[in-house]
Amino acid sequence: MMGPFSNEPMTDFSLADNRRLLESALDDIKRSYGQLYPLLIGGREIIPESMKQSINPARHGETLGIVAQADRKRAAEAVDIAAAAFERWKRVDPAARARTLYKAAALLRRRKHEFSAWLVAEAGKTWVEADVDTAEAIDFLEYYGREAERLCAPQPLVRIPGEDNEWTYVPLGVGIVIPPWNFPLAIMAGMTASAVVAGNTVVLKPASATPVIAARFVRLMHEAGLPEDVIQFVPGSGGEIGDSLIDHPLTRFVSFTGSMEVGLRIVERAARLQPGQRWIKRVIAELGGKDAIVVDRDADLVAASQGIVQSAFGYAGQKCSACSRAIIHADVYDEVTERVTALTRRLTIGDPALYGTDVGPVIDRAAYNKIRQYVTAGKQQGRLLIGGGMDDGAGYFVEPTIIADVDSQATLAQDEIFGPVLACIRADDFGHALAIANDTPYGLTGSVYSNRRERLELARDLFHVGNLYFNRKCTGALVGVHPFGGFNLSGTDSKAGGPDYLIQFMQGKVVSERM
Ligand code: NAD
Ligand code: ALA
Repeated sequence: MMGPFSNEPMTDFSLADNRRLLESALDDIKRSYGQLYPLLIGGREIIPESMKQSINPARHGETLGIVAQADRKRAAEAVDIAAAAFERWKRVDPAARARTLYKAAALLRRRKHEFSAWLVAEAGKTWVEADVDTAEAIDFLEYYGREAERLCAPQPLVRIPGEDNEWTYVPLGVGIVIPPWNFPLAIMAGMTASAVVAGNTVVLKPASATPVIAARFVRLMHEAGLPEDVIQFVPGSGGEIGDSLIDHPLTRFVSFTGSMEVGLRIVERAARLQPGQRWIKRVIAELGGKDAIVVDRDADLVAASQGIVQSAFGYAGQKCSACSRAIIHADVYDEVTERVTALTRRLTIGDPALYGTDVGPVIDRAAYNKIRQYVTAGKQQGRLLIGGGMDDGAGYFVEPTIIADVDSQATLAQDEIFGPVLACIRADDFGHALAIANDTPYGLTGSVYSNRRERLELARDLFHVGNLYFNRKCTGALVGVHPFGGFNLSGTDSKAGGPDYLIQFMQGKVVSERM
């Protein structure tokens, strides 16, 4: 029996010993650069004709791995094999399934710096961001293991005389798991492990930019004792194989985290009944954000400015939770924008493999080009305070960029840019600030900095986001502490890392026997 859940501590890199551990892990993984990562279907390694390189976004000449690419036929075969494996896996004792996750958490804890090193190399994460990602993956494994044990036991019911009633949760079937690249370990591991520990089998299509981390996680799950046919590892282009995975009649649910555009497409396709399909496919879709920090006139402006900079530029703004709009009361607008600019000037941009780098590269050329378009347009939509520079000579580097006096309806203030670009918007008063904050199609995270209780209570009521923070940054949700998920077009509000999450991969069954 495991003890109560507690969050994995972060590594203190101010200690030289800890710095040496990650430095040597960063050296060690280089010996594995260029390895081949086959498809894994039913425990069988498959090397198809089509392969794709995974590269380091900070040094795009550096190949980290050669990754097999599934075609539609392989994708469909993976669903068939997962369906066959489901018949056996669903009968495994939930406590034993949970133990596989606890064992995987223990292995990951032991190899924490190795996985963090891969996050630095493949996702361009700084040391701290990589360490947070690995810690969160451990948390998901530990948390969902305990959740499976809780939910797979008979649930409490009102008792009546003359009948024996039992309510249990049973698994759904084959799940297609499609994670994003921006938390390539934590979100990918959490989405996969939750589906599996609930008794489902999975076809995991990793994000195209970060397949090596996913492949290494699947191997770790096997080391932990997970039968090899429970997770099918099927890398490939989402545009190429996504539809075959979603459309397959044996697909029972889709667990997706990514952009609004792809998520809505999946929702639509999954709704179409296919020949031979016997259920309504369930879609869990966690999508993008256009998250705002609101600064009230009597807020702690130093704390607010620090919170904005951390939320806007941590991992180069590539978090669904990132602050991309600072909505500031007119009375303190000039002071806050000046403070935010001054703090941003102090950020170190560069190779994330070096300790002390604050902002690394963006993930790939497509992201780089998209951000460039927004920066160019943004200079017309407001006043450039800092940044705007870009360099793709060695890696995909974008300077943290702040544009002031942006209209709340400008594309810079409406579209998810997913890069280190912050729009500052002036609000006439606090009510106006909340109205602007709510005026996008999204509703994921938000923060309010204020020292007035009635303002915070007003925001509690009116600020329509799934994760609302007061007097702190709007990133950094912790498993078990801040169940995570968004409103409106930010998704189905699945609340990852919370007590409502696992149940989405199960269905309740009630058996009533007359005595
Ligand atoms: P994306 O939508 O481009 O890709 C997500 C995944 O979908 C990838 O694995 C991709 O290969 C796959 N895909 C692409 N086209 C597909 C198709 N037609 N059918 C099926 N799958 C397809 O998103 P991304 O760039 O990987 O991630 C960034 C996005 O994810 C941002 O919008 C961000 O806000 C969002 N995100 C949301 C959360 C959350 O919890 N709400 C967390 C992290 C990231
Ligand atoms: N869960 C991540 C955060 O809160 C996305 O920043």
